[in-house]
Amino acid sequence: MTVSNNSAKALFQPIQVGSKLLQNRIVLAPLTRTRADVSGVPNQLVADYYSQRATPGTLLIAEATAISSKVGKPKGAPGIYNQDQVNGWKRVVDEVHSKQAAIYLQLWHTGRTFSPRDDSTPVVSASDIPIPGLDPTGKPYPTPKALTIPEIKATVVDFANAARNAIEAGFDGVEIHGANGYLIDQFNNTSSNQRSDIYGGTVENRARFALEVVDAVVEAIGAERTGIRFSPYYGFQGMHDVDPLTTWSYLTQSLQSRHPNLSFLHFIEPRTNIRTDDEVVADVTESLESFRSIWKGPFISAGGYSFDPKIAFDVAEQSPNNLVAFGRSYISNPDIVDRLRNGYPLHPYDRKTFYTPGAVGYTDYPVYAEDNQSSL
Ligand SMILES: Cc1cc2nc3c(=O)[nH]c(=O)nc-3n(C[C@H](O)[C@H](O)[C@H](O)COP(=O)(O)O)c2cc1C
Repeated sequence: MTVSNNSAKALFQPIQVGSKLLQNRIVLAPLTRTRADVSGVPNQLVADYYSQRATPGTLLIAEATAISSKVGKPKGAPGIYNQDQVNGWKRVVDEVHSKQAAIYLQLWHTGRTFSPRDDSTPVVSASDIPIPGLDPTGKPYPTPKALTIPEIKATVVDFANAARNAIEAGFDGVEIHGANGYLIDQFNNTSSNQRSDIYGGTVENRARFALEVVDAVVEAIGAERTGIRFSPYYGFQGMHDVDPLTTWSYLTQSLQSRHPNLSFLHFIEPRTNIRTDDEVVADVTESLESFRSIWKGPFISAGGYSFDPKIAFDVAEQSPNNLVAFGRSYISNPDIVDRLRNGYPLHPYDRKTFYTPGAVGYTDYPVYAEDNQSSL
């Protein structure tokens, strides 16, 4: 094996993100791992997991986290709407900060994708349109209730309160989850938003909810502590837009005009598909380039680098403001920053343990020295 030192490459050059001067452009992508306790409180195991992945000067984005008790979520997914959850996250953040890494929390409203546990709380979305097809148990997805305008306004407030809680827990900032078919994405996409009021129809109206959430979070915690994630070309959970280039260009331009000091915009690459372990070749007409050229601040791109880290090196060389987020390969390589710096091989991930409880497939992945020992 050839070992190289990549320290001089763009991927390892410092970059300012919010108030943090990072030492490299490698980011832990937000990853739902369902290891919090039944009340959505992150425990010591969760703290160990993030601490293992905290390399000095590196940005971690902690997993999608419910912004209110009304939000449906998978068992073991965390929340950030009560004091126990804030205290649980504080332990995680303290351990990450003790290793001189930065950590943001991803704020999540799942919309029509998960039923709230409390049966009296309906599944909600932009419109009363269920996810097409059948759920993993073979049943049709529930038909959501379209949020009323007062409920939309209340949800915006929930995002702002969750952001304040994240700052109370010590996070360096938050990433608003506007991607992957969850509530904000359900407003942005034409397939799930067929409203006829000021939140539906034109691109300005469909984007209104996302932009109001950003405004409210910025007002609550400051632009330099706020980021947002989008996935314009990812058809996950029934997402489809008639004109993604126009929709996300409008969103990006609006954010550039209204909040140029946001920490970052985070986009998922078109070629991404987390349901397969094969590299996906994107439609050549789909690209993040337009959004990258509109947004002048830090730009995170994610997706597919897990299969070929060379692409991540190239993206960092070509785009001076670009950070790159790793998902699956950061799961199985807690020391991915050192591995990429030294040109060490990456350890394979095990899909079967992505969402299972306990330490297996979570905190038991080796660092390079151990990995190398075991293969001798
Ligand atoms: C197990 C797993 C959990 C994920 N959870 C989240 C999540 O909580 N929030 C989110 O925005 N994306 C989530 N994603 C998507 C990743 O952040 C990332 O975009 C995706 O894995 C593509 O990057 P990769 O090719 O490096 O894996 C998840 C992906 C995986 C594999």
